Amino acid sequence: MKTLLAISGSASKESSNTELLGAIERAFANRYHIDVYDGLWELPLFTPEQESDGVPVAVRKLRDAVRTADAVIISTPEYLHNIPAVLKNALEWMTTSGELANKSVLPITFCPAPPRGEYAMLSLLQSLKASKAAIVAELPMYRTDLSLQDGIIQLNETQLELLNEALGLL
Ligand SMILES: Cc1cc2nc3c(=O)[nH]c(=O)nc-3n(C[C@H](O)[C@H](O)[C@H](O)COP(=O)(O)O)c2cc1C
Repeated sequence: MKTLLAISGSASKESSNTELLGAIERAFANRYHIDVYDGLWELPLFTPEQESDGVPVAVRKLRDAVRTADAVIISTPEYLHNIPAVLKNALEWMTTSGELANKSVLPITFCPAPPRGEYAMLSLLQSLKASKAAIVAELPMYRTDLSLQDGIIQLNETQLELLNEALGLL
């Protein structure tokens, strides 16, 4: 069974992107081992000097998690027509160490309604390409297409089919 690291790109501790990844984890538990990572806000701000002065523990943990995963899912909201700074920061931390190079990655944007998230997807794709990641697809998702049951995200048949196809490419 493949292990997938599912990174939530949000800076929020109560993030709908993290919830979406939890719903994906539950829906595909029989096919993939999915670890949801929602700790981007814990990472210190990247500076090149820290590469030589000592890489912070939280960064080493993330780097190891990406390195050991068979593939990565990144689900992100859009901030200021871009990806959140916490996600860009994490990608910067993995630039010279190279964990994303040749790693299969599925980028997802999860926003309140279409067409929101377009800029975040463009930005994420640029950063992933610069990191030499193997981007398998791009998947924009919206809260308007989802239902909630007792506050828990319910994925419908269409979304499950799309996700199934995209995860199969990882
Ligand atoms: C600082 C900030 C900037 C934002 N900028 C945008 C934006 O440019 N475009 C957009 O569609 N939504 C924007 N939003 C709204 C978030 O993308 C939206 O609330 C999203 O669903 C949050 O995801 P989360 O629940 O995973 O944190 C912004 C939110 C914040 C906090």
